[in-house]
Amino acid sequence: MKADEEKVLILDFGSQYNQLIARRVREIGIYCEVKPFSLSFKEIEDFNPIAVILSGGPSSVYDEKSPKIDKRVFELGVPVLGICYGAQLMAHTLGGTVVPADSLASREYGRTETEFNTNSSLFGNITSKSITWMSHGDSVKQIPEGFEPIAHSAGCPYAGFENNEKRFYAVQFHPEVSHTEKGTEILRTFLVDIAKAKANWSMVNYKQTAIDAIRAKVKDGKALLALSGGVDSSVAAALMSQAIGENLTCVFVDHGLMRKDEGDQVEQIFSSYKLNFVRVNAQELFLDKLSGVSEPEKKRKIIGEEFIRVFEQEAKKIGKVDFLVQGTIYPDVIESGLGSNAAVIKSHHNVGGLPDYVDFKEIIEPLRYLFKDEVRQLGRELGLPEYLVSRQPFPGPGLAIRIIGDITKEKLDVLREADWIFRSEIENAAVKDASQYFAVLTNTRSVGVMGDGRTYEYTLALRCVSTSDFMTATFTRIPYELLEKISHRIVNEVPHINRVVYDITAKPPATVEWE
Ligand code: XMP
Repeated sequence: MKADEEKVLILDFGSQYNQLIARRVREIGIYCEVKPFSLSFKEIEDFNPIAVILSGGPSSVYDEKSPKIDKRVFELGVPVLGICYGAQLMAHTLGGTVVPADSLASREYGRTETEFNTNSSLFGNITSKSITWMSHGDSVKQIPEGFEPIAHSAGCPYAGFENNEKRFYAVQFHPEVSHTEKGTEILRTFLVDIAKAKANWSMVNYKQTAIDAIRAKVKDGKALLALSGGVDSSVAAALMSQAIGENLTCVFVDHGLMRKDEGDQVEQIFSSYKLNFVRVNAQELFLDKLSGVSEPEKKRKIIGEEFIRVFEQEAKKIGKVDFLVQGTIYPDVIESGLGSNAAVIKSHHNVGGLPDYVDFKEIIEPLRYLFKDEVRQLGRELGLPEYLVSRQPFPGPGLAIRIIGDITKEKLDVLREADWIFRSEIENAAVKDASQYFAVLTNTRSVGVMGDGRTYEYTLALRCVSTSDFMTATFTRIPYELLEKISHRIVNEVPHINRVVYDITAKPPATVEWE
């Protein structure tokens, strides 16, 4: 980021919605970062925000140990918006009182009809009544001097209050949550009308800023990147390549567990880029290591470890490098306001962690401040093909965890063909809300009849889920006619499958993947 660019600071008090606030602000076109509430005042000043947002959080401001804020934040001369706990904290810090909600009216949770004073600066662009999302055990009983009430609900007399002269605003509800009907408009009013943001943050501008920053850091140093063919490592590779060209080496370890044609696609794209592209064909090595292994966690471990070993061997040939590039993205690095890591990267979701034997000085993470949708957008700006940037999530261990039981080359080939038919049919039919879809080769064999003969072949399971965060998911309502067509095609076109089933389990209790 350049120092003169407009930035919003979100101070996090432990809200489960901290990332959501940041995403909304970015969607409005303004760069922002989420920082723990414990940031020192000096760091806040140095960040030089055009506005500060105080997030929600699970604590009670009247508890001695609850997270507080340096009062000088209110002397920075920039607009401040408090949300939920942030609103209570603003009231508490500036001389108001906060009490348990029960003692005042009632606790509120969920969708709540709220009335707004549309003469206020904050609510000037919305209608006087709409639904907000409330989730609070405490309420403001008395607002500080100089403040006006600007919204209320049945259970909350101060659902909104402001000191317009000082540009301090507070809302008890969560404008960042989609259930708050006018939430985005309220945030936009705060940022654009009140904080006078230009709101021109976009991946078009970001691309050049990022390239300049990488050049300034790497200079004529050498960088090494492990390319998996997934969205993040591909976008990181394309960005680094535009910044430092042939000083970048990308090692693509083909473990033979990718989907149909994916290995060749990765090679085709990146061998035409200005960079050193190395493809290691390690299919046989991985098959060998996995031979006879049917326990899911063991498969994952073997693949993770082997991946690192192969990458290290290749890196050794290159010799000392200055930088190791990682495709880490923002949700992985946001620290929670309450100290621990809000987004602990699920260990099994990493292919192997960091290599021990690669000789490098520093790690460089060019996507560190981007959300996934921004990474995809940046990929488009960098000219990567759409099928690559809009790729659905694909587990690092690949098809190995979509073959139940032991893995053989034949099973991989069967699964690749069936999976390809399923995916292309879903895409051709543009099935609504299909977030992730794939085939699973089970180890169940059953009797069937084909032509005049009896068959005894594998059962294939189809999995298609609708989800926004992959933490919870429902099965996608694929029309029966389409399921029928897919099943018919698979049984007829792919040998060794004589039965197709559709997985109709939600997550929880099931997971998205079968292993
Ligand atoms: P589960 O199966 O845990 O999957 O419900 C949630 C999301 O995570 C992906 N997933 C993985 N991604 N390495 C990865 O990189 C893995 O080992 C792994 N396991 C699951 C899964 O595809 C889904 O999107």
